[in-house]
Amino acid sequence: MDVAPAQPADDRTPAAARPALRVDVLTIFPGLVESYCEESIVGRARRSGVLEVNVHDLRVATTDAHRTVDDSPFGGGAGMVLAPGPVFAAVELVAPPRPLLLLSPGGGRFDQSMAAELASGPFSLLCGRYEGVDQRVADHLVDGEISIGDFVLAGGELAALVVLECVARLVPGVLGNESSAADESFTTGLLEYPHYTRPATFRGWEVPAVLRSGDHGAIARWRAAESLRRTIERRPDLVAARGGLSEGEVRLLREHGYPLVAVESSGAKRPGSPVGDAALEERDLP
Ligand SMILES: C[S@@+](CC[C@H](N)C(=O)[O-])C[C@H]1O[C@@H](n2cnc3c(N)ncnc32)[C@H](O)[C@@H]1O
Repeated sequence: MDVAPAQPADDRTPAAARPALRVDVLTIFPGLVESYCEESIVGRARRSGVLEVNVHDLRVATTDAHRTVDDSPFGGGAGMVLAPGPVFAAVELVAPPRPLLLLSPGGGRFDQSMAAELASGPFSLLCGRYEGVDQRVADHLVDGEISIGDFVLAGGELAALVVLECVARLVPGVLGNESSAADESFTTGLLEYPHYTRPATFRGWEVPAVLRSGDHGAIARWRAAESLRRTIERRPDLVAARGGLSEGEVRLLREHGYPLVAVESSGAKRPGSPVGDAALEERDLP
C-alpha cells in the first residue's frame, strides 16, 4: 500500500469542499484499516469528501531491511514491545493532527460523549500491537490513551475502527438521515426504544398497535416510555448517572403501564433523586 505522509489542509480550499473531519490512523497493518474504511458509511463519507481518513504505516520511517518496529521487553517476559524509535520517527515524519490518541486497554473508556467531543475536530489514532507500546510513547509522544472496553485485543486496529466509525456517524453529512444519531442509545443518556418494520405480523408476533396508529404524539410518548423502560431494566446505572427519573418520566411510565415498583428494585432510584419520593409515593400502580 502506498502510504504517504499526511498532506496539510490547503487554506485556499473553499470551506464547503473541505472535509468536515480528518482522522489519521498509524498502524503496522495499514491495509487492514484501509480496507475497512473503503466500505459502508466511512467509505461513502470519504468518497463524498465529508470525511478524510489517512492511514499511515508505522514502519514508514524504519531504515533496516526488515523494517523492524518491535523489540524484546527489558526485564524479560513474553512477547515483544513496539519500540519507541520507529514509533516516534513515524509520528514525527507524518505529523498527524493532534490530539494523537493511543489505543490501549489501560486508557480512558471510550463512550458516546467522548465520540461527540472527538467529532468536533481532527484527531489521530495510534494502534499498539504485541505486548503493547514502550511506555515512553505513552508518556512523551501521545496526548491521551483510549480503551474500548475491559478486554484485550491483539492490536489497536479494531479499536481504532470502532472509534473512527462511532465518531464519523456524528459528523453532519455522514449519515443519510440526520436525525438518526440524535435519539440513539447513549446520546440522550438512555437506551433507544425498539424498532419494527414490515410485516406487521411475523410468525404470530405483532408490532405494537400504537406504531400503526398514525398518532405521532402517542408514538413519541410510547417511544420515550420504552426508552426509559429498557434503560431501567437493562442499564439502571445509566438512569442513576443522570440523577434518576423526573416526575414527568414517572408519570409517562405509569401511563404506559410500567410497574414503578420495578424502578425501586432496579436500583434506578437513588436517595434524593427525582425518582425516589415521586415514584415511591405513586405506588398505587397497576
Ligand atoms: C495484546 S494488546 C496489549 C495488552 C497489554 N499487554 C495489556 O495487558 O494491557 C496489544 C494492543 O492492542 C490494543 N488493544 C488491546 N485491547 C484494547 C482495548 N480494549 N482498547 C483499546 N486498545 C486495545 C492496544 O493498542 C495494545 O497495545
